[in-house]
Amino acid sequence: MTSGVYIHVPFCKSRCSYCDFATDVYRGRGAVDRYVNALVKEISDPNSEFPNPTSQIETLYFGGGTPSLLSPRQLESIVSAVSDRFALADDLELTLEMNPATVTPEKLRAYRSIGVNRASFGVQTFNNRDLKLLARGHDATDARLTYIHLREAGFENVSFDLIAGLPGQSIDDWQTNLEEAVALAPEHLSLYLLEIHEGTPLAEQLRSQRRPVPDEDVAAEMYELMLEMTASAGLDQYEISNFARSGFESRHNSKYWTLDPVFGFGVSAHSFDGRERYSNERDTNLYVNAIESGASAVVAREPAELRSEFVFLGLRMMRGVDFAEYERRFGEDLRVRNGEGIDRLSSLGLIVADERRMKLTRRGALLSNEVFAEFL
Ligand SMILES: C[S@@+](CC[C@H](N)C(=O)[O-])C[C@H]1O[C@@H](n2cnc3c(N)ncnc32)[C@H](O)[C@@H]1O
Ligand code: SF4
Repeated sequence: MTSGVYIHVPFCKSRCSYCDFATDVYRGRGAVDRYVNALVKEISDPNSEFPNPTSQIETLYFGGGTPSLLSPRQLESIVSAVSDRFALADDLELTLEMNPATVTPEKLRAYRSIGVNRASFGVQTFNNRDLKLLARGHDATDARLTYIHLREAGFENVSFDLIAGLPGQSIDDWQTNLEEAVALAPEHLSLYLLEIHEGTPLAEQLRSQRRPVPDEDVAAEMYELMLEMTASAGLDQYEISNFARSGFESRHNSKYWTLDPVFGFGVSAHSFDGRERYSNERDTNLYVNAIESGASAVVAREPAELRSEFVFLGLRMMRGVDFAEYERRFGEDLRVRNGEGIDRLSSLGLIVADERRMKLTRRGALLSNEVFAEFL
């Protein structure tokens, strides 16, 4: 078993209308410098709450917010704090989430020389009307240009994020997005169905009925379309929302689904040491103040529900849950523990099970929350 490290960078140029992540509007390099100093201090703390991993760090992931607002110097100071504290694997997967129009060719080359070898690129949609609706602060041309710059800077592992089911988005619109995405030939695609979060500007716009959200049938058709188009483009679905050319599956995200330890730093970051889960402070000012005053950023700590997490996180992956592996880990047969649930979900056509494993069907992937609830 190997481990991963996650670093949260909360800053964004502006706030997108659908977003519920822990983010702050970017207030210039000074505020980011102060945050980066706090991060470096948190990473370097020898008395941190979780034990040092005994295994190597195989993946380092910068998520946000918008990590591509970090200058190369800021990024380098964080990466070197991580490598001072942890043993990094020679073939470290180092991912940085990047937004269109936040990077120049020089900055991308500097990121490469620091060791960033995977770009998770937030395209969301190539449709300018929808980008405006989402208040993304960039247009489709910015996304196309940044993608060219990524390739020119030598990025050979690029993932796009796209969202389906946007208000007013038709099936044809979604198809046009997918066509452009596969034509650009990224190694990886993360395709999400829009989730509406209470308290976001988008939730408010929908409540006032200014724009309709596609209904469940349309969303199901969009999902089918993404399965067909990714398959014919040679991108294999390996998780409910994730598709990759062989060998380009996200090693970092896979760690969450296989219950490998991941140590998180920064505001709102979560950690899992193999047994317990830890959550950091969610407010950036409170996080920075805590670290600067020598306190811990961890505000909650609890044992993981390993048995149920192994099952519902495992079901997220297309290969499903291996009964023998469950028995090796927990010393009991899952088909005895959850036999009735497995039968019920099988008869509803939401999972298929044979003597070795169980996995989601297409319908089950669309109704995954209903399936997971069975194992909570
Ligand atoms: C951690 S977010 C941030 C990435 C980056 N800041 C960006 O916006 O491009 C990762 C991805 O989650 C997806 N996402 C965020 N909010 C969502 C929502 N409400 N519904 C569906 N997908 C969402 C987006 O595709 C986004 O790129
Ligand atoms: S850029 Fe990404 S993290 Fe920032 S507000 Fe938009 S969706 Fe959220």
